[in-house]
Amino acid sequence: MSIPSPWRSAFPALAAFDAEGQTYLDSAATAQKPQALIDALASYYSSGAANVHRAQHLPGERATRAFEATRSKLAHWLNGGSPAQIVFTHGATEAINLLAYGLEAQFRAGDQIVISALEHHANLLPWQRLAQRRGLELVVLPLDSRGIVDLDAANRLIGPRTRLLAISQLSNVLGTWQPLPELLALARAQGALTVVDGAQGVVHGRHNLSALGCDFYVFSSHKLYGPDGLGVLWGRPQALELLQHWQFGGEMVRLADYQSAEFHGAPMGFEAGTPAIGAVIGLGASLDWLEGLDSAETAAHEDILHTSLLAGLEARDGVRILGEPKAALASFTVEGVHSADLAHLLTEQGVAVRAGHHCAMPLLKTLGISGAVRASLGLYNDSSDLERFFTALDRALELLR
Ligand SMILES: Cc1ncc(COP(=O)(O)O)c(C=O)c1O
Repeated sequence: MSIPSPWRSAFPALAAFDAEGQTYLDSAATAQKPQALIDALASYYSSGAANVHRAQHLPGERATRAFEATRSKLAHWLNGGSPAQIVFTHGATEAINLLAYGLEAQFRAGDQIVISALEHHANLLPWQRLAQRRGLELVVLPLDSRGIVDLDAANRLIGPRTRLLAISQLSNVLGTWQPLPELLALARAQGALTVVDGAQGVVHGRHNLSALGCDFYVFSSHKLYGPDGLGVLWGRPQALELLQHWQFGGEMVRLADYQSAEFHGAPMGFEAGTPAIGAVIGLGASLDWLEGLDSAETAAHEDILHTSLLAGLEARDGVRILGEPKAALASFTVEGVHSADLAHLLTEQGVAVRAGHHCAMPLLKTLGISGAVRASLGLYNDSSDLERFFTALDRALELLR
């Protein structure tokens, strides 16, 4: 069955890939960019770059207006209350590091930080280091056979010593949505802070952060069809007030003397130095483009293509899909075949997939494997991409077996 993508032509990279025989199935690593974003970047840079928040001249005023407009668009896109709740960082990774430093004073030796067994290194290592610095216990919630956090275990493990829960919304390896309402409620009942890693989740569907019930939510622009070098930290106003400043320099300071200084609160107090101005303006254009799509239509497209990806994998002998993926990706191993060899042969045939530990080494160890191949989908993928993938996969398996 042919499944066309109505949005493929909005992404010039897809035409370039088609021309050079490349099939892009690595959108969970980074997404291709719509023409609307490329135009916005070209327009900003060709009409005059300027620094934000500090220049009185016209280009500076124009850049500041466009920059701050993205903050408002994000607050709207995320159903996240006020633009002041949005802090720009350089990525999801930096946003989580900001939290792990900014919240340090909230912990006493013996307190617990709870994460899950499927976290990306970005949502593991900053907490691991914080636990080491402050003498805290890092508690890891186990998964059930589907690759979803086991709620009975979470009920047992989240307790009075839990001061913070940091959890992925959607696993970058297993493609499973985590039971956020239940987990966040368990943490809140203990008075713990909550951090949601939305790096993968934010891309699929619309979210309502005001209703989700977390204190902080982070993601990277580059996976949401936006520019790279830019991340977003959203926080509840009362939670943002708990943050200690962590990077110091221009723009984040209200008053400075040689021996002391006073700092702004969020968001400015956490955006030290010149931000990624062009990227922020570009993300605004990507959001405008996404706002123009019918979310039911995009969800249906992702769903039908994903079902077709899973069915194709399941139909092949020896293929083991990790977990029960529900969104836009599938990681898999093949009996008797090394995933690096398989990825190499797919790459040679022009199929871009991800192979290895997917920045989740402890999870792969738990699953008893050292690597897996991941195919992931974006709005621009269509059934021709899957056909090329499966043709290449069959050829590779023929060679390797
Ligand atoms: C679930 C998850 N969290 C965090 C990250 C880190 O994102 P970045 O490298 O853009 O900071 C990723 C990136 O793959 C991810 O998939």
